[in-house]
Amino acid sequence: MTKNINLTLKVWRQKNSSAAGNFERLEAKDISTDMSFLEMLDIINEKLTLEGKEPIAFDHDCREGICGQCGSVINGRPHGPEKGTTLCQLHMRHFADGDELVIEPFRARAFKVVKDLAVDRSPLDQLIQAGGYISANTGAAPDANALPISKETAEMAFDAAACIGCGACIAACPNASAMLFIGAKVSHLNLLPQGKSEADKRTLGMVRKMDTLGFGNCTNERECEAECPKEISITNIARLNRGFIKASLFSSEK
Ligand code: SF4
Ligand code: FES
Repeated sequence: MTKNINLTLKVWRQKNSSAAGNFERLEAKDISTDMSFLEMLDIINEKLTLEGKEPIAFDHDCREGICGQCGSVINGRPHGPEKGTTLCQLHMRHFADGDELVIEPFRARAFKVVKDLAVDRSPLDQLIQAGGYISANTGAAPDANALPISKETAEMAFDAAACIGCGACIAACPNASAMLFIGAKVSHLNLLPQGKSEADKRTLGMVRKMDTLGFGNCTNERECEAECPKEISITNIARLNRGFIKASLFSSEK
């Protein structure tokens, strides 16, 4: 049932990447529980703009849980408290009247704050450039039975391909490791015949690039898996580790 709630927000405000930031206390009044979290921020921004104040900068694009652009930390949880949900798909009915919400940007050494809640996630693009693609010309779509792939393999690759590159796994990890993101990309491509010929190059390239960009290492905390809005499994990290050891020992790609 729709109702309206009042909330107190403590929002991280930071002019740019070199300025010092601080929390600003804002009242969110008469918020419909049917609104998404981003619609609630829109309402706050409309009010701030009408008062002649600077609106809160935050990233978003599709607002449908597809693009991976949204993402802030709500009371210590990247994308907020609901499991398997992006911030744009989080609805205000999950909060109670009188709640206080602390809203912060994704924090990681590799992600600079651009402004307020918006962070620079281009290091994820650099990881993709280090191997998260297939360079072979795969031609036109083949007949479905011309390239047999087992159901189990297809499902594992498809599950990994659900990663939207939001970076919540990195914000959740105490080491700010990008291993779940890389594990998902490497699994998605290396499991399929089209990606196998570049598997070693891809695995070595992405892991080594991660080390140069300021991401930490995986120490099996599993917080990445718990906070991932697409519920990417850490079995992808185990597969990545096996692939990395094999490629380091036996590959001509060293
Ligand atoms: S693994 Fe999950 S949390 Fe990490 S970038 Fe992909 S979708 Fe986001
Ligand atoms: S705005 Fe696209 S996933 Fe949230």
